[in-house]
Amino acid sequence: MAKLAEFEILKLLCQHPVSTRSISVSNFGVNDLATLLASAKIPPAANQILLHPYVYAAQAPIIDYAKKHNIVIEAYSALIPLTERPGGPVDVPINKIAKKRNLAAEQVLLAWVKAKGAVSVTTSSKKDRLQRYLDAGDIELTDAEITAIDAAGASAQSHELWRSRV
Ligand SMILES: NC(=O)c1ccc[n+]([C@@H]2O[C@H](COP(=O)([O-])OP(=O)(O)OC[C@H]3O[C@@H](n4cnc5c(N)ncnc54)[C@H](OP(=O)(O)O)[C@@H]3O)[C@@H](O)[C@H]2O)c1
Repeated sequence: MAKLAEFEILKLLCQHPVSTRSISVSNFGVNDLATLLASAKIPPAANQILLHPYVYAAQAPIIDYAKKHNIVIEAYSALIPLTERPGGPVDVPINKIAKKRNLAAEQVLLAWVKAKGAVSVTTSSKKDRLQRYLDAGDIELTDAEITAIDAAGASAQSHELWRSRV
C-alpha cells in the first residue's frame, strides 16, 4: 500500500492528463487500484507486483482485477523458487517440465508468468542466461503443466515471504 502522501500525489497526476502521459504503480492491491481508478482520468498502465508460484493464490485477485481494467501486470522476483526457495515443492514440476522440454528451470518459471498474463521483470549478470530469458518468450506451457506448477505452489503458500517483500 502506498503511503498516504504518495497516494495523493499519484491521484493528482492521474487526474491531470495534460502533464501526464502514462502512470505505472507498484505493489498495489485491489483496494489501492480501485481507489486510484475512482478518480483517475489516466488509469495506471501497469502494476508491478511480486509474482511466483508460492504467492500466486494470494496475488490472483490483483491479477484478475488488473485484467478487467486493462492494467498490465509486471511480475518481479518470479525466480524466487530458484533463488531463495530451492528445494521447495515447485521444483518438482519445474524440473520435470524443464527436463522433458530441454529448457532451463528459469525459462519454465518465466513461461509460467506469461501463462498468467503477466510480463516478467527480471535480471541477470550472465549473457547466456539473458538470452535464455529472451527465448522463454516463445514457450507456451500446457494447461496440465500450469496446473501442476499452481498446485505445487499452493501446497506451500509462502505468506510470510509475501508479506516481507511487499
Ligand atoms: N517493484 C518492486 O517492489 C520490486 C521488488 C523487487 C524487485 N524489483 C525489480 O524486479 C527486477 C527483478 O528482480 P529480482 O532480482 O527479484 O528478479 P528475479 O527474476 O526473481 O531474479 C533474478 C536473479 O535470479 C538469478 N537467477 C536466474 N536464474 C537462476 C537460477 N537458475 N539459479 C539461481 N539464480 C538464478 C539471477 O542471477 P545471475 O545474475 O547470477 O544470473 C538474478 O540475479 C529488478 O529490476 C528489480 O529492481 C521490483
